[in-house]
Amino acid sequence: MSLICAKIEAVTTVLAVANQKGGVAKTTTVASLGAAFVAHGQRVLVVDLDPQGCLTFSLGHNPDRITKSVHDVLTAGVEVKEVLLDTTDGVTLLPATIDLAGADAVLLMRPGREYSLKRALAKVKDQFDVIIIDCPPSLGIMTLNGLTAADAVLVPMQCETLAHRGVGQLMRTVNEVKEITNPDLKILGALPTLYDARSLHTRDVLADVTDRYGLPVLTPPIPRTVRFAEASASGATVLAGRKNKGAQAYFEVAGSLLGEFGLTSTAK
Ligand SMILES: Nc1ncnc2c1ncn2[C@@H]1O[C@H](COP(=O)(O)OP(=O)(O)OP(=O)(O)O)[C@@H](O)[C@H]1O
Ligand SMILES: [Mg+2]
Repeated sequence: MSLICAKIEAVTTVLAVANQKGGVAKTTTVASLGAAFVAHGQRVLVVDLDPQGCLTFSLGHNPDRITKSVHDVLTAGVEVKEVLLDTTDGVTLLPATIDLAGADAVLLMRPGREYSLKRALAKVKDQFDVIIIDCPPSLGIMTLNGLTAADAVLVPMQCETLAHRGVGQLMRTVNEVKEITNPDLKILGALPTLYDARSLHTRDVLADVTDRYGLPVLTPPIPRTVRFAEASASGATVLAGRKNKGAQAYFEVAGSLLGEFGLTSTAK
């Protein structure tokens, strides 16, 4: 009897973090989940798709001093591997600079412009277990590229009054992407951020989001903690002190997402 050894293909999950509303902790979520997936033993790439370069900066790289960025990848056909940077968090970074602000205009004239990032990432995908994309606060061509390249989308949501405004528009965009450029895109749900458990109002907002949009709410919510503000302002690693309760919450969210992605944590 012959033994047939089936080679198990490594699966890479590409996760887009998107919400056109500004300041809801998209970038913090990408940096923190990235570091959390590394702590779970995964090989992680994070992609900065925001010309503000906040993710790039928060991972210790000054966008003003970077010569090649995701802009060159998307508009000039530069290989992703020529642009990748290491970070002290252990994640690999595809950085952004202010040049990216002009990418929409360049891509506008190109056929298949929504696929630029997906095509570029395909060449490095097998080197990573998880790729996380930080979308800018708009529903423009960069966010469409992020959603088209992704297997799944996560929507950080600050649980304040009117948080749901704009969610309908975001879900319409996600559904259009599913119809046109990425039929397999999975909606993971809303991740409550800047969460204050003492506020009853917060819980109402979350219930409302589930009722109106059928959007699942991921747990645990990410509590508001001063550590995050300090970390992003200093360009220091967000998860430097894993003991803080925000970082711990991201670690738990990453752990439960791993199960959904079919990956196994090696964290002790
Ligand atoms: N859990 C938290 N506790 C306290 N402050 C936080 C938390 N998460 C994020 N912040 C702070 O909130 C601000 C906005 O966060 P962040 O930049 O991640 O949002 P964003 O959605 O990426 O913003 P933009 O839409 O401008 O890209 C930052 O100053 C960040 O440090
Ligand atoms: Mg951001």
